[in-house]
Amino acid sequence: MLREKIFIASDHAGFELKEKICSFLEKYDIAFENLGTHTNECCDYPDFAHLLSSKIDEKSFGILICGTGIGISIAANRHKNIRCALCNESLSASLARRHNDANVLALGGRLIGIELACELVKIFINTKFEGNRHMKRIQKIEENQC
Ligand code: RB5
Repeated sequence: MLREKIFIASDHAGFELKEKICSFLEKYDIAFENLGTHTNECCDYPDFAHLLSSKIDEKSFGILICGTGIGISIAANRHKNIRCALCNESLSASLARRHNDANVLALGGRLIGIELACELVKIFINTKFEGNRHMKRIQKIEENQC
């Protein structure tokens, strides 16, 4: 893994997939912190997007899961330091790192299974940002945040 630690969080709709991803991370001895939710009980995805976003720095990645991955990624991307990419296939997970220097991966717990989710996580946490022309574009995103 390219960073020291992963923060992972979900709402109720992403809870089951989150727990399975946590087991996968544990199995491969990948350092992570589970920020909740910790039950199936109905909750609000922005709460978890905001909590996780407040923890992310240059040494960490984030994984966020809601039913579709859409709401939780929108909420996370309101944070200045967050580039959250919703990925449902491998090439997006790779390009989100290589071109966008994404630091948070969003997944749809009601859309994808555990095998694909683990594949996306592996790609995301092991793929380097390519820099060069992509750097300027990321700077432009940050310059224009209101
Ligand atoms: C919760 O029912 C669902 O709306 C939420 O998990 C997410 O899919 C929103 O984008």
